[in-house]
Order: sequence, then C-alpha cells, then structure tokens
Amino acid sequence: MDKLNDTLSELKEQNQNLLEWKRKLSLILEYSGKISAATDLSEILKVITDETKDVLQADRCSVFLVDKKKDELFSWVAHGLGKRQIRFPKSTGLAGAAVVTGETINVKDAYNDERFNPEIDQKTGYFTKTILCIPMKNRQGETIGVFQVLNKLDGVFAEQDAEMLRLLATQAAGIIENAMLYEEMKKSFKSFINTLAEAVDARDPLTAGHSSRVCSYAVLIAQKMGYSEKEIERLQYAALLHDLGKIGVKEGVLTKPGRLDEKEYSHIQTHTSVTRKILEQTYFKKEFKDIPLMASSHHEKVDGTGYPQNLKGEKIPEVSRIMAIADVFDALTSKRHYRGPMPLQKVFSILKEETGRKFDPVCMEAFFKLDLWDVMKVMFEREEKPSSETVSAKLKGVTLQELLRKFQDGVKDDIIENVAQYYSRLIDEG
Ligand SMILES: [Fe+2]
Ligand SMILES: [Fe+2]
Repeated sequence: MDKLNDTLSELKEQNQNLLEWKRKLSLILEYSGKISAATDLSEILKVITDETKDVLQADRCSVFLVDKKKDELFSWVAHGLGKRQIRFPKSTGLAGAAVVTGETINVKDAYNDERFNPEIDQKTGYFTKTILCIPMKNRQGETIGVFQVLNKLDGVFAEQDAEMLRLLATQAAGIIENAMLYEEMKKSFKSFINTLAEAVDARDPLTAGHSSRVCSYAVLIAQKMGYSEKEIERLQYAALLHDLGKIGVKEGVLTKPGRLDEKEYSHIQTHTSVTRKILEQTYFKKEFKDIPLMASSHHEKVDGTGYPQNLKGEKIPEVSRIMAIADVFDALTSKRHYRGPMPLQKVFSILKEETGRKFDPVCMEAFFKLDLWDVMKVMFEREEKPSSETVSAKLKGVTLQELLRKFQDGVKDDIIENVAQYYSRLIDEG
C-alpha cells in the first residue's frame, strides 16, 4: 500500500513537473513571436524581461548592462523603474558579484547577504527577498551584463529556475549583442549623414545649419501629424539630405550677393535632380527606399508648378510636402545674400497665402499648431538660445497660430515683446 502511495505521489509530482514545463514552453513560444516582431533594443528587452518574469514566476526582472568606459552597471530595462535608469559601480551588489565572478548567484534572503546593496530598494521603495542573478556573456565569453529576477512568487528560486534563467540569459545576450552592433551601425550612418549635410551647407556660410534646422522643423510638424518613430527616422534622413545636390551648384551662383538671374536660377534648381541622382545610387534598405524621391521633391508645389517633376497634390510624397514648409520657413527666417531675416508676421502671411498653391493645407495646419517655444529653440540653434526660464515659461504652450492672431490683432503683450526681442537679435546678428 505504501509503495502504491509512493508511486502515486511520484507520478503526481512528475505530472506537475510536466505541466510546469508545458506552461514554461508555451510562454517561451508565445514570447518568441513577440521578440521577433520587436525591432528596437529597448522594446526587445522589455519583451524578454516580461517573458522571464512570467516563466520564472518572479515579481520583477531587470537587465543590467556593463558600461565598460565607466566601469559601471546600468539598468537598461527593469520592472518598477519605468524610464528611470539606475547606475552603480560594476562590482557592487549581487548583480556586481555575478559580473565579477561570472557565476550564478541565488540568494534566499537578500538582507542577510553582505554582498546585497539595499540602495536600489531604497531608491525604488521595493523590498527584495529572494534574488537570482545570471551573468550574460557574449560570443567571446565576455560578461556584457546581468540578468536578474527578484522575489519568487511562491517561495525561493530553485536550481531549475537558475537553469531556465541561464537559457533565457543566453537568448537575451545574443539578441543584445546583435542589437548593439545594429545601434552602432545606425549611429555611424546617422553621423555620416549629418556630416554630409553640414558639408553641403558649409559651401555657403549663410546656409550653415540649414539642413539640420529644416530637419528639426520637419520633425516637429511630423510629430504633430502623428508620425511613428520609424516614419520620423526616414523623414530625418530625407530632410538632412534634401539639398545634397547643391554640391553640384557653382560656388559663384550659390554665394552670389544679390538676386539670381534666370540662368542662374535654373542652374540652382538642378540641385533637386542631382540630390535624387546621388541618392538613387546610394544603397538604402527597403524601408528607406523612398528617400531619394522624398528628399528631391522639396521644391514641388501642390498646384503642380514646382520642380523638378511638376508633381501635383498627393503625387508629392507627404514627407516632401512637410519639408517644403520647413525649408521655406528656415529660408525666410534666415539671412540671405540679398536680404536679412524677414519679420515673423510677414513669414507667416506668406506661408498662409501660399497654402493650397505651394503648400499642403493639412501639413500647414500642423505647422501652425506647433509650439512657439519648440520653434524658437530650433531657430536659435545658430545663436545663443533664449534659454531664460521666464522666457520659456511665457512662450511655452503658445502656438504659432495664436502668435499670428496676436500679430493680426495688433496685441502688444509679454509674448509679442519676447518674440520681438529674440527675433530682432537674429536680425541684428544674422
Ligand atoms: Fe532646396
Ligand atoms: Fe533647403
């Protein structure tokens, strides 16, 4: 009878174990789909920490990465921290011990372990009881971070949990390493494009910073129009590269002090098709393949009278319709060889007048919804920024449309006074 009971409880236990593995496996499968759908590293890590927390039935999960330069560990994703980041010396705490020894650390009572660093609990108002830390290693065997779970929901972390966490940590380490390489490549791609844009603008001292400001204004408009992060990234590249073709424009024409004659004007117009030609010969991944068209269509007009292709209305990529506003706004608010920056009220009325002919009404509506302070910050990138707290407090929350109304109604208040004061500085120094 005893033997039968033993066998029965053994079977029961095995059955429970099997059910537990089934639960874990189905969770892992469910999360694998989410991981492959996620694109950016923080998003991927968020999915992995959620997965780990659920699979191991822990209360919290954190990923700490090693900052080699500073010899610190920093939280990349951590439950309970939101967007806050915690940093601490690489060798402190249990996570630090896992990095230093390269070994798994499983502690059943954190506050009774002298290696435990209670500072994070103090900062987050949390109480750590049980903790399991696994060092994450890259393909070269270097520890790149620590995977940590806190407070097992029903008791303490067992060896089985450690095994599972090691498995998940290996998966995470591979993904993190690839993603970091990708981020590095993206960074160098971005800095290359920035340098290229700066080099083009530098051909004429008066257009210094033009491409970067056009990019910033265009981003503000796109954000107002609800663009996703990916769409904004594409718009940024297109905006930074929009005048790339100016490298083909003769210096005498580019820097001519005074108005251009017809021949010179048509020569300068060729910069759009040159932009397109150069970019079409550049390799862009699939999601960026429209950049050559987007970048080169910033002088198209919605009524079809623009150049280089006389595109009309929605035939012009929306990104280019946004850039057209940003481009003209920056040109009018900057000094040119034949004139100084135009008064803001006049700039606004030109933009309004040309809406429907030159500019897209929907994009223009988004432009006039922009916050005056956000626009001023971009405008003054070239000068000392109007950074005083009192000015920012006054201008924040006022839209360009509201400013235009004040101009039209002849209002003379603090806002108008501050704008005039800063803008005149641009006119004086520009
Ligand atoms: Fe242009
Ligand atoms: Fe431009």
